[in-house]
Amino acid sequence: MIEQTGRLPRHIAIIMDGNGRWAGRRGEPRAVGHQAGAGRVRDITTACARKGIEYLTLYALSAENYIRRPAPEIDALMELLRQYTIDERPTLMENDIRFRIIGRLEELPAGVIEECRNTERLTAGNNSRNLSIAVNYGGRAEIADAARALAAKARAGMLNPDEIDEEMVGRHVYTAGMPDVDLLIRTAGEHRISNFLLWQAWYAELYITDVLWPDFDEEELDRAIRDYTRRTRKFGAVVNDSEGHKG
Ligand code: IPE
Ligand code: IPE
Ligand code: MG
Repeated sequence: MIEQTGRLPRHIAIIMDGNGRWAGRRGEPRAVGHQAGAGRVRDITTACARKGIEYLTLYALSAENYIRRPAPEIDALMELLRQYTIDERPTLMENDIRFRIIGRLEELPAGVIEECRNTERLTAGNNSRNLSIAVNYGGRAEIADAARALAAKARAGMLNPDEIDEEMVGRHVYTAGMPDVDLLIRTAGEHRISNFLLWQAWYAELYITDVLWPDFDEEELDRAIRDYTRRTRKFGAVVNDSEGHKG
């Protein structure tokens, strides 16, 4: 299972952090940083599509953000998301990108749910690229939701609990059918996962940059991908290190 990457990641996930700091440095309110960050989403989505990255998953709002941030900030983020999902439709269609929301979308305002579902439906037939936006997303909540779904099926006699294995759990997480994360990028320098894709990032290669999300451009993306292609992925195995790769 040792993989000398040397090739593009199939699935890139990004923790888009630093919008607030970006705004703060300019003496602007946090919402201005979120607006700038939303602009970056389109650039990075189309850049990934062009480069041949099949799956891109972006962390827009954690479940913790949703309950812990001040209402005006959440309201601004909800309006940005609603507008984004409407405005992005032509770009998603032109680039054959399937759009999905992961997270507890049902807890969001009705207008946001509706536009997100419309965009999901519109792009459901696209299949060369995949964009998932994590909103009101929590990795632990996702695993709990999968456990509940499996338990319900067991109770209904649809499955035998003895048969539950990793593959079956993988079919009940929000990203069912998608490959695991190959490259996990975090902007704005924080060295933590913040409850993102706990299941899917099990052997993801990590790339952390100090660049704030609103400044993260294609050049920064290329830097992260180049770094990834030089890594050796071991998945727990031993590497015969004749080429001097990092152990
Ligand atoms: C990331 O930027 C976007 C969201 C979490 C919505 P932050 O808002 O966390 O920005 P900082 O970390 O305060 O700079
Ligand atoms: C993580 O960023 C969530 C998103 C980028 C959407 P936070 O800024 O909320 O993370 P913490 O609180 O610093 O860990
Ligand atoms: Mg932050």
